[in-house]
Amino acid sequence: MLFLLSLIPRAMWNNITFCSICKLSPNSAPLLLPRLLTLNHVFKGKCKGFFSNSKQTTQTLQNEGQKRTCSMLPSRLVSSKAKFRRYAKTYPVLDGRVLSVYRHVFEENLRNSEAVVKRYSELLELVSKGGGENAILRHTQRNKKLFVRERLKLLLDDESFLELSPLAGLNMPYGDVPAAGCLTGIGKICGVWCVFMANDATVKGGTIYPIGVKKQLRAQEIAMQNRLLSVYLVDSGGAFLPLQSELFPDKSHGGRVFYNEAIMSAMKIPQVAVVCGSCVAGGAYVPTMAEEAVIIDKIGTLFLAGPPLVKAATGEYVSPEDLGGAKLHSKVSGCSDHFASSEKEAYECVRNVISTLNYEPLPDEVIEHDGPLYSSDELLGLAPRDYRCTLPVKLILSRLLDGSRFQEFKADYGTTLVTGFGHVEGHLVGVVANNGELTHDASLKGSHFVQLCSHRSIPILFFQNTAPHAAEPTSISQAEAHANRLKAQASMMAAVACAAVPKITVVIGGCYGSESYVMCGRSFSPNFLFLWPNARVALVDSRHLTAVPQAGDSDSTDESELKHLKQRLEEESSAFYSSARLWDDGIILPQNTRKVIAQCLQIIQQQKYQVIPPCQHPVIRM
Ligand code: COA
Repeated sequence: MLFLLSLIPRAMWNNITFCSICKLSPNSAPLLLPRLLTLNHVFKGKCKGFFSNSKQTTQTLQNEGQKRTCSMLPSRLVSSKAKFRRYAKTYPVLDGRVLSVYRHVFEENLRNSEAVVKRYSELLELVSKGGGENAILRHTQRNKKLFVRERLKLLLDDESFLELSPLAGLNMPYGDVPAAGCLTGIGKICGVWCVFMANDATVKGGTIYPIGVKKQLRAQEIAMQNRLLSVYLVDSGGAFLPLQSELFPDKSHGGRVFYNEAIMSAMKIPQVAVVCGSCVAGGAYVPTMAEEAVIIDKIGTLFLAGPPLVKAATGEYVSPEDLGGAKLHSKVSGCSDHFASSEKEAYECVRNVISTLNYEPLPDEVIEHDGPLYSSDELLGLAPRDYRCTLPVKLILSRLLDGSRFQEFKADYGTTLVTGFGHVEGHLVGVVANNGELTHDASLKGSHFVQLCSHRSIPILFFQNTAPHAAEPTSISQAEAHANRLKAQASMMAAVACAAVPKITVVIGGCYGSESYVMCGRSFSPNFLFLWPNARVALVDSRHLTAVPQAGDSDSTDESELKHLKQRLEEESSAFYSSARLWDDGIILPQNTRKVIAQCLQIIQQQKYQVIPPCQHPVIRM
């Protein structure tokens, strides 16, 4: 203790708000350290004001160059109000001014961003209506059920939640499947972050399309990776039969959802289900495999084969209620554990179940932080229309990091990759951001930095804007340089793959070829991966294509063939095409990026507060 107190420099003593009980003066304090040790009440929290520093004091200390000393103080010597320990206001401030030479590029980007943001909003509006107005009317009036978004309002603590991949399922080879027929996301229930998966029965009776399976599997993967309890709102006719060959029986097909339920339970990730509609065939296994299930009277039914099939097989008509209604499953079969007489009661029941999980909700601790010094709206002009419109990435970082402060690592080495530390809403993060081609030096630097973050348990943010393709080597020395770069990139890939820290990737521009793997693309399993609407995801940039590749030596330069190929590649490389296919967790607006990242960091952090004893077996329904 004496040692710790002796770390307090004189300048700080001068700024301490002194205790009215002890009456110590600034000058006498360091001399009276031994006496302090006997002042029991100080360290038992009875002398609350003793070591507290006002904001003004913090400022004074900074001015006097004593900032580092403050952060060396152990937490109990700092009052809970003095959060500066966690937010290093000492990192250098980035210069985020957009120079006039960049103006025309900025404006070109801005025009493009406005167009893609408009399209994004239109698509969001479209999917918010599920299967369309008629289907919603049928669902709510004829079937007396709540629309899936209304259900979420009753289930979650508040209306704001992180919706995952809302544009999944649009423009698929088999047509539009709004939100892939199943809403997924992360929201709070009883103060605990939970993953939810909710079928939208207005989309073909909630039947599962291949993209719907993929969406559910991704939501389960997020639940497992971030240890988030899961809630299923099941209202599904099972497999969408015309596409059965894409739904059964492969490893990543429908059955995997049930397999994951068992594995998640064994991992001590609780799962609760609500039967809030017809759950037929595959749809019936989801609640039955859950640890606890609630069924809603006259709304929820659960069977492997519905009344029409029974009639076809036996000639006998049996009502859905009698075949697999709430009373039957609550009293006879035991497939459900709680009977609810209304939808509202069912969601209240889920909240009660969650409160029995013995989870510690996240403390309501708001980490003191500053906003960036530059407007986030300007990110729209920095979001590159294409790779040639890329501006220095630090302009983007200055609009995302707290106080625009950035502790850069290896600032003058491998400058086409920017690495360093900063904070997002008070959370310390490592930043890895493309700032040009991923050269040999840049890759080595990235590899080093990622390992630092891993050793220090600091989450990493990847800002991806990779170069479309490297030019073919024209000399032996160039070929050697390429080989060296390949080796350095492989080292960074290994570092990224093995870094045992949370990773969040945001594609802010291009996601091209192998550099996207190095920058923690989807196949490198980041905890979350989002795209800006201007993003382009492809092996090659169609705009750089000059000939149609052919087998053999010569490429075709046929104009119409080339035009056709370029058009296709162009369409397939848009952020909307990617998000529709679930190559990401959704498109986010540049100006919302900071908020989304902060939310993800909070979500990831929740697992810190759970005690996870080893457990090898799931809860098995008896
Ligand atoms: N595969 C493909 N399409 C299906 C389907 C399935 N398994 N189940 C329902 N649909 C379609 C219907 O053809 C209808 O399409 P339309 O809007 O183009 O006419 C749409 O989904 C809605 O079905 P509908 O019966 O009008 O709605 P509902 O709310 O009254 O009932 C179900 C929904 C799912 C309960 C009911 O359709 C049903 O029992 N389907 C059979 C489920 C089944 O046998 N699944 C076995 C999977 S292995």
